[in-house]
Amino acid sequence: MITKLAIAAGLATALSTAAFAQADLSGKVIGFSQIGSESGWRAAETSVTRSEAEARGVDLKFADAQQKQENQIKAIRGFIAQGVDAILVAPVVATGWDDVLTEAKEAEIPVVLLDRGVDAPEDLYLTSIASDQVLEGRVAGEWLVDAVAGEDCNVVELQGTVGSSPAINRKQGFEEGIASASNIKITQSQTGDFTRAKGKEVMEAFLKSSNGGADICAVYAHNDDMAVGAIQAIKDAGLKPGTDIKVVSIDAVPDIFTAIAAGEANATVELTPNMAGPAFDALAAYWADGTEPEKFIITESKLYTAENDPQGEYERRKGLGY
Ligand code: AHR
Repeated sequence: MITKLAIAAGLATALSTAAFAQADLSGKVIGFSQIGSESGWRAAETSVTRSEAEARGVDLKFADAQQKQENQIKAIRGFIAQGVDAILVAPVVATGWDDVLTEAKEAEIPVVLLDRGVDAPEDLYLTSIASDQVLEGRVAGEWLVDAVAGEDCNVVELQGTVGSSPAINRKQGFEEGIASASNIKITQSQTGDFTRAKGKEVMEAFLKSSNGGADICAVYAHNDDMAVGAIQAIKDAGLKPGTDIKVVSIDAVPDIFTAIAAGEANATVELTPNMAGPAFDALAAYWADGTEPEKFIITESKLYTAENDPQGEYERRKGLGY
């Protein structure tokens, strides 16, 4: 399925750029089909990919798909026609990739998936660098179980892009995380498309249909940007985010640490924006002597709360392109 655990050797911590001398990939042309710029996290991933490419001498061809799978497929076909050496793709949704990935395979161009998974045969891509998205949701859910300590809690959920692997898996993981707690119920769940604006809009609707928010105990957002939008909606409704309504989300972007430091958000699960470093390392080894990377290279999913120096975490991230 979309998210699978790699064996220990495949853990991305072991593949961090600090762990290896960076290979010189001068002369390599690599296409990158990025989803768009729906979130702060995605902006950081783009920025980190550009700098990781530059550090290795890669000629990176960047294509912004503006959230549309058809644009991604077109870009990948363009990269194949240009005869690039490899293709990185962050797939907006999970399905519908078989044909274009087959075309890349027939052209003998290795494809590396970044941050999201696909429902396609595994032999159509070299490796997938992503978090365990089910685990991310589970970590968020288990945090809430501890935080409410047995009190009844109605949760509203802001889902990511419909059909995307993080939306599917983070929903599943959160449900698993709260499964043991009969006091916690998801009362409303809708997509906010991973954007701040939609997160706010959907949260406003949730608040209206929940007695002005009095019937909501927590919001679980599949990313921090939607959480930040929800925080604004909660404030506009005259309630205190973080206190009247708990806020838990995923990504660990600088803005959520500002909110945590201010007591307006409670917890976030980190997703590293450095998917490209491990991808370039895997490609370098593959090109050097044919080393096949692990099929699924899994990045860490660490929980952060007010106890983890949110101001310091903000400072550490603020210059990284979020
Ligand atoms: O696929 C990763 C998700 O996509 C991030 O959590 C979200 O912010 C992004 O848009």
